[in-house]
Amino acid sequence: MLDVTDHAAVIAFCDERSIGLVVIGPEAPLVAGLADDLRAAGIAAFGPSKAAAQLEGSKGFTKDLCERAGIPTAGYVRTASLADALVALARFKPPYVLKADGLAAGKGVIIAETRAEAEAALAAMFADAGAEVVVEEFMEGEEVSLFALTDGATIVPFGTAQDHKRVGESDTGPNTGGMGAYSPAPVLTPELRGEAITRILAPTVRTLADEGMPYSGVLYAGLMLTSEGPKLVEYNARFGDPECQVLMMRFEGDLGEYLLACAQNRLASLEPPRFSPETALTVVMAANGYPGIPEKGGAIDGIETAEAGGARVFHAGTALADGQLVANGGRVLNVTAIGDTLGEAQSKAYAAVDAIRFPTGFCRRDIGWREVERACGA
Ligand code: AMP
Ligand code: GLY
Repeated sequence: MLDVTDHAAVIAFCDERSIGLVVIGPEAPLVAGLADDLRAAGIAAFGPSKAAAQLEGSKGFTKDLCERAGIPTAGYVRTASLADALVALARFKPPYVLKADGLAAGKGVIIAETRAEAEAALAAMFADAGAEVVVEEFMEGEEVSLFALTDGATIVPFGTAQDHKRVGESDTGPNTGGMGAYSPAPVLTPELRGEAITRILAPTVRTLADEGMPYSGVLYAGLMLTSEGPKLVEYNARFGDPECQVLMMRFEGDLGEYLLACAQNRLASLEPPRFSPETALTVVMAANGYPGIPEKGGAIDGIETAEAGGARVFHAGTALADGQLVANGGRVLNVTAIGDTLGEAQSKAYAAVDAIRFPTGFCRRDIGWREVERACGA
């Protein structure tokens, strides 16, 4: 199998097969500079350079950029010293938000309810040599995700979504990579979306270009809708998981055309992308134990029956063992459906979930609850 950390091997593979576009999905190879090395070898790559991928790779980088560009986000202190971090706590009210710099697969953020908890967490974070931490203001509001393609000059909005980060129903328990999602997210009204593009995405893209590290690829802005308007929580340098699944269910057209245009700095020449007005919803089926150590090897049956009802089942962490489909990861399946309303998509997705037999797995039964409550006027 091709080792993607061996960039020379990736380039040789592409050359041998005359590959015209490489789409770099996850963040680690972006932060490692795979896009730079492919471009230097004359191979079109979708995804930001190593420098621009710091938007996801370094929380401190993004906070400093927001400050330089006047982008609305939580107030913060970035420091490599435990003593300074402890002093910084006094600037903020509880709950305290503490973020380790660097990629942490969603596990680098601690929300501490009390000063004592925050102090203990900081002591643990600084136990790692060379640690750098961002202490930031807690933002109140609803979270929503906004996607855009950019080639460093043109910004093309590419849909909205909301995910469910906590493992348990009613958003309880530890954070995960996401237990389900839906798109569009009506809470991000066209007005708020416009404000987020003008005040957050546009200055980000402009500042990175002005500073010699133009961003090319997909920008996933995690936003908090506060009483003062949308503020940036974080950027991802990729389509989210499972946000990608719901966005792609609604995207109409040739995705390759957009990704290639992005890689070749000619997004401005394309028509705006079209998305179905329907709602897509996905339910993650995870292996027992997730987000801790997941139970591997559990049998999974019934995918065909689930799909016969119109749902799409995306495999996230499965394997074949002697012809039997088995769980092979934390998040195992994304059971996805589309409907005229969120309620219809939700019913279809859960009907498909119920057709799947996965005794060593679990899922949340309330994906989409915010919109269901809003529809009921709650
Ligand atoms: P991040 O990795 O920066 O997205 O943080 C993970 C999660 O922590 C976010 O999705 C939010 O739910 C929460 N979070 C991060 N920063 C803040 C903040 N400043 N205020 C409130 N919640 C936050
Ligand atoms: N679901 C959030 C992420 O992919 O980062």
